[in-house]
Amino acid sequence: MNLRVKVKERLGRKFDEEIRFFKGWMSNAKAVGAILPTSSVTARRMASVINPASGLPVLELGPGTGVITKAILERGLEPSNLVSIEYSTDFYNQLRTNFTGVNFINGDAFDLEHTLGELNGQTFDSVVSAVPLLNFPMHRRVELIDDLLSRIPVGRPVVQISYGPLSPVVAMPDRYSIQHLDFVVRNIPPAQLWVYRRAH
Ligand SMILES: C[S@@+](CC[C@H](N)C(=O)[O-])C[C@H]1O[C@@H](n2cnc3c(N)ncnc32)[C@H](O)[C@@H]1O
Repeated sequence: MNLRVKVKERLGRKFDEEIRFFKGWMSNAKAVGAILPTSSVTARRMASVINPASGLPVLELGPGTGVITKAILERGLEPSNLVSIEYSTDFYNQLRTNFTGVNFINGDAFDLEHTLGELNGQTFDSVVSAVPLLNFPMHRRVELIDDLLSRIPVGRPVVQISYGPLSPVVAMPDRYSIQHLDFVVRNIPPAQLWVYRRAH
């Protein structure tokens, strides 16, 4: 296949992805919460926090079109070791087609006990989250981070993408530490990456 055809196919796929994302966004703007899919630079930065050698599964929230899912798998994690929760049934169906072997769940990340089902007691290595936290009230954001931290070992990270200047959850030093991981300008809109860890 010549280079022009390859580039055209790649752009075609990217465009399809953006159309799908835009349709998801139009039909449910509050749930999707971003304008375009996450950039691969951002996705790789988020995926850098996981430890594929830990033997524990990784939990992903809000995979959308799967850009971050791809970056996580590219770190060498076995697809069967990735549990990924997506609220939109359209995205979920497409993700199942695109990423064989990943354990996708079509459900609500804010109701993990129910959504995880038989995986509810599972300890994960880390959490990679793209759920649009800013669209939810503060007490629900804090509850979610707290819940996520109770599902990973002390000291392991929950990484969260957000688009505001500040951490999407308020400081609670007795419950978790907050680290600003990165500000990625190669993302539309530019993205802030935050890491939360249980202090003890
Ligand atoms: C900002 S988009 C993520 C974009 C994704 N990183 C990409 O590049 O396509 C947020 C995603 O979180 C999903 N989402 C929103 N609320 C959710 C919830 N309560 N539980 C699980 N997923 C949720 C949306 O459907 C959407 O796919």
